[in-house]
Amino acid sequence: MATALIILAAGMGTRMNSDRPKVLHEVAGAPLLHHAMASAAPLEPERIVVVAGHGSEAVSRAARAYDETAEVVLQEEQLGTGHAVAQAREALADFDGEVVVLYGDTPFIRPETLEAMVEARAQADLVVLGFEAADPGRYGRLVTQGARLERIVEFKDATDEERAITLCNSGVICADREALFELVAEVGNDNASGEYYLTDVVALAAAKGLSATAITCDEAETLGINSRAELAAAETAFQARARAEAMEMGVTLAAPETVWFSYDTAVGRDTIVEQNVIFGPGVTVESGARIRAFSHLEGAHVSRGAIVGPYARLRPGAELAEEVHVGNFVEVKNATLDEGAKANHLTYLGDAHVGAGTNIGAGTITCNYDGVFKHRTEIGARAFIGSNTMLVAPVKVGDEAMTATGTVVTADVPEGALAVGRARQENKPGFARRMFEKLKSRKARQQKEAV
Ligand code: UD1
Ligand code: CA
Repeated sequence: MATALIILAAGMGTRMNSDRPKVLHEVAGAPLLHHAMASAAPLEPERIVVVAGHGSEAVSRAARAYDETAEVVLQEEQLGTGHAVAQAREALADFDGEVVVLYGDTPFIRPETLEAMVEARAQADLVVLGFEAADPGRYGRLVTQGARLERIVEFKDATDEERAITLCNSGVICADREALFELVAEVGNDNASGEYYLTDVVALAAAKGLSATAITCDEAETLGINSRAELAAAETAFQARARAEAMEMGVTLAAPETVWFSYDTAVGRDTIVEQNVIFGPGVTVESGARIRAFSHLEGAHVSRGAIVGPYARLRPGAELAEEVHVGNFVEVKNATLDEGAKANHLTYLGDAHVGAGTNIGAGTITCNYDGVFKHRTEIGARAFIGSNTMLVAPVKVGDEAMTATGTVVTADVPEGALAVGRARQENKPGFARRMFEKLKSRKARQQKEAV
């Protein structure tokens, strides 16, 4: 069955107190909008229409960054959820199939829940996603009669009896495209808020002899974000789930509550993640690796048996082969380290390739940036880069070559060669002792004069 998505994302998000549109605030390294789009991805929507208002250009860029086929329609004035859905009518005029309406500020709806909704369309013309609320507060209430959903009443418009209902509206709704837009066109704004309520389509459907039903999900899935505090709570909820899932998959977390995952972090079985590790977006760690304490990884791939940290930083494009060691205060950016290569202390490797089994000494720096351009450093296999080597890129060091400690490498080093690029040392016998004596007597003189 062909499906289309409408994602409502025009709201101002006043309570965020932000210049940034609400749906672009991030949880686990991705904007809320991407989470909403991701929850519907397994439905393989043929069309995605995002209804934007405030900050529509930025919202549009973000939507297309996730899926370049996403269309964005503008809702100039936010006159209600029903009015918002109506803005997608033209964009979907040529679409035949199911339409699922989601909110852009509701990141945790599970794909399985949406799949169940689409399936439930076999039983009813309209399917609404509800949940049993621990504290129903101001949510819309679902008025049901057995399996039949009769209508949805907004809190503001509800009687005391209706307010006692705990089955609430999540806002997610699914219907055939034609039926949905027909119903939405009939929605009026004669209610306590003066808004066009999408929720009114349920009662309108009943009047037309169409059926509606509700399926339910866990309340946690329907968590919507309206404030910074709710954003933080959503992050907490995401992290708790990600940690539990990682452990379930066979990853050891030494102190789970101190490890931070991104929406797309993948960690293999029997990998050990120590305390206070942060995974930014785009990280894959294979099985049996060890990520030691206080490391920060982003856009990196760590292979089997590699050891990272403590206090290491892997930036985008860091590619570590099996058994690679990257130690404390080492930063790797857009660089590949082949099998068994080691950079254990105080090093920057950027725009570089390090061959298998090569040892990078403490304090080595690839000087990759001339202020305007970036340049590459190529280091061969089984090479030995002496401590405090500056590799002024573009430069190549051959297989089994060596650089002397403190060398500034400005020309390629042939394979098997030793490069020494530093001033030759000269010893001046007794010089230090004579100089100290001179300095000490000068200090004593000055102290005497001061008295
Ligand atoms: C809505 C539902 C309510 C449900 C609740 C769940 C209606 C009338 N009410 O209420 O039954 O329990 O969500 O959270 O639908 N939006 C637009 N354009 C608009 C208005 C809203 O894009 O003109 C977007 C908002 O940005 C938001 C979503 O739609 O993402 C929901 O709007 P909101 O005003 O928060 O609805 P609620 O009053 O919370
Ligand atoms: Ca809301």
